[in-house]
Amino acid sequence: MPKADILLDRHFTIGDTDPRLFGAFVEHLGRCVYGGIYEPGHATADEHGFRRDVMDLVRELAPTIMRYPGGNFVSGYRWEDGVGPVDKRPKRLDPAWFSTEPNTFGTNEFIDWCRKTDIEPMLAVNLGTRAGEDARRLVEYCNHPGGTELSDLRREHGWEQPHDVKFWCLGNEMDGPWQMETKTAVEYGRTAVEAAKLMRWVDPRIELAACGSSSRRMPTYGAWEDTVLEHTFDEVEFISLHTYLNDYAGDTPAFLASADLMDSFIDEVVAIADSVAARRRSSKRIMLSFDEWNVWYRTRRRNEGRVKLGWPIAPEILEEIYDMKDALAFGGACISLLNHADRVKTACLAELVNVIAPIMTETGGPAWRQTIFWPFSQMSNLGRGTVLDVRVKSPTYETVYSDPSRTEDMRFPLPEVPYLKMAAVHDAAGGYVTLFLLNRHLTEPMEIAGDLRSFGRFDIVETHSLHDADLKATNTKDAPDRVVPSALKDVSIAGQALTAKLPPASWNVIRLSVA
Ligand code: AHR
Repeated sequence: MPKADILLDRHFTIGDTDPRLFGAFVEHLGRCVYGGIYEPGHATADEHGFRRDVMDLVRELAPTIMRYPGGNFVSGYRWEDGVGPVDKRPKRLDPAWFSTEPNTFGTNEFIDWCRKTDIEPMLAVNLGTRAGEDARRLVEYCNHPGGTELSDLRREHGWEQPHDVKFWCLGNEMDGPWQMETKTAVEYGRTAVEAAKLMRWVDPRIELAACGSSSRRMPTYGAWEDTVLEHTFDEVEFISLHTYLNDYAGDTPAFLASADLMDSFIDEVVAIADSVAARRRSSKRIMLSFDEWNVWYRTRRRNEGRVKLGWPIAPEILEEIYDMKDALAFGGACISLLNHADRVKTACLAELVNVIAPIMTETGGPAWRQTIFWPFSQMSNLGRGTVLDVRVKSPTYETVYSDPSRTEDMRFPLPEVPYLKMAAVHDAAGGYVTLFLLNRHLTEPMEIAGDLRSFGRFDIVETHSLHDADLKATNTKDAPDRVVPSALKDVSIAGQALTAKLPPASWNVIRLSVA
């Protein structure tokens, strides 16, 4: 049986998790909004038309910040269409998703939904078909107390108090040719810095994220971040990263290793941001907003499932059904984010409901949890605190991950992938250490020998393990609990030592109370 040694010391730390590390994303896309979080007429709908069954699952999932309204959608969005009397709002074609946008849900409804679910709102502005002045006007509409045309308009619309939105994204994936009005790095850098200035002049307390590359495989990756930050460095706090892990190749070991490339991606973007700082002799540190991440491939290849003919409203698109194997790769991504808590201060699981999502619904019917729901909810509920710099000695394997784009199939050799990928979070105030452990060995259990020398006495508080003999197992409307965590039984402590046996191909959580 493969064996891994782990060493945890309360004095060896990476950084504190920011509450915003556990965010998610609602886009006007498919059935994420309509039939997802919002469905007036649904049996569980509240007075706003928000689905209570979905809100209950969202509370359980525990996202902390929610990005809205896109995504690709935002690059053509006119925010004015989504405010004011609902019967006067225009229906518009949405060229991002070849859908018709009814605009019956907009910024104010989103803010209400966030307040009800106790989630911080994060708004993206349109820097595709629009630019700084429209973004400035949205900040004024949302955040200015009153006494001006736009702030009084918000009050007239029924929202007396300012929304006080703190976190703003300067556009979305502006390097992607699929984006409405894609830009070069210089064009985007100039647009973003001017928008940032105007927005901040209206509300100096806001925080701003510039768009990084849409993914690490973009041909302009690296140079894009450098140029964009050269323009925006003084005006932004964050640069964004996006990653969707895939198993197009049907190669499970490679798929489970793919989250390790998120580690490289983060390290590289940190290096670029810090080199821009170095050129300025600046001590300012740009933080990372990993504001789209997930597993996504079945409904992605050649845009299958993206387009439905006839410009429908809320079509069933990008409704990825996640299996057990996806939950494992997803868990690997959770661990990568935790282990970069020093620089990744915001992250958004893309997306929240129905569209590549942890929560699925039937319009007019029930809501249920997908397999990926579990690692996220456990990370968010149990993973707050100081991330420890764990020393792991694990056997490794060799693989090659392929990441096909529109233009080329990029191949990433991974010569030494540890079978055990893990993170440990110390919640000093609560008196807990929580271990998140992914056993990537597909056929063998993994024996863990843990040395927790700096922690006095500790006890096992709770354990969870997500595994299934069938890696293709999924949760469905009729079998919503096919893949659910159970307790990890083989865990014991003796003195300063912790031992555990992780099932093959499993995601595991061990929470200890520490003195
Ligand atoms: O999350 C789905 C889409 O993926 C988003 O709209 C876009 O930003 C990304 O390409």
